[in-house]
Amino acid sequence: MEVADVLNRVLFVCLGNICRSPLAEAAFRHQADAAGLSFEADSAGTAHWHIGKQPDPRSQQIAAQFGVDISGQRARQVMEEDFRRFTHIFAMDHENLEVLQSRAPMDMTAELSLLLDLVPGREGEAVGDPYYGGEKGFAVTWRDVWEAANHLVGRMV
Ligand code: 4NP
Repeated sequence: MEVADVLNRVLFVCLGNICRSPLAEAAFRHQADAAGLSFEADSAGTAHWHIGKQPDPRSQQIAAQFGVDISGQRARQVMEEDFRRFTHIFAMDHENLEVLQSRAPMDMTAELSLLLDLVPGREGEAVGDPYYGGEKGFAVTWRDVWEAANHLVGRMV
């Protein structure tokens, strides 16, 4: 089976689904669309705190600076069905990867990994949580998720 066939339903996961994973989803969608790929992409949080909310204004701002509108995204929590529906689930950091592993049903078919495992030389690294910091952190997040999405798209074309 071609990589393109198996890497087509991807879920990006952080803690709140308002800062990092919305940007990861957006960076991936943007580049996958540009590459003409057919895919399914979504993002979710392991926590329930922000369900239904728009992405953090700082995430919306950094995406907008790069011409990507994420204002239509709404936060949701990871659910059991995600582990069967998606082929790949990418966690932003180790804590969220561990939570995903602990919640995974016995019959899960998705492959779990860290997002930055996609980037040669950055395997095992986390996309740092920018929530409690300044806007500079969001620029770092955007750079990280853009780079990872670029490698993901590169594996799918
Ligand atoms: P995210 O960032 O996991 O990248 O969406 C956070 C969002 C909210 C909180 C923590 C991190 N919070 O504590 O509410």
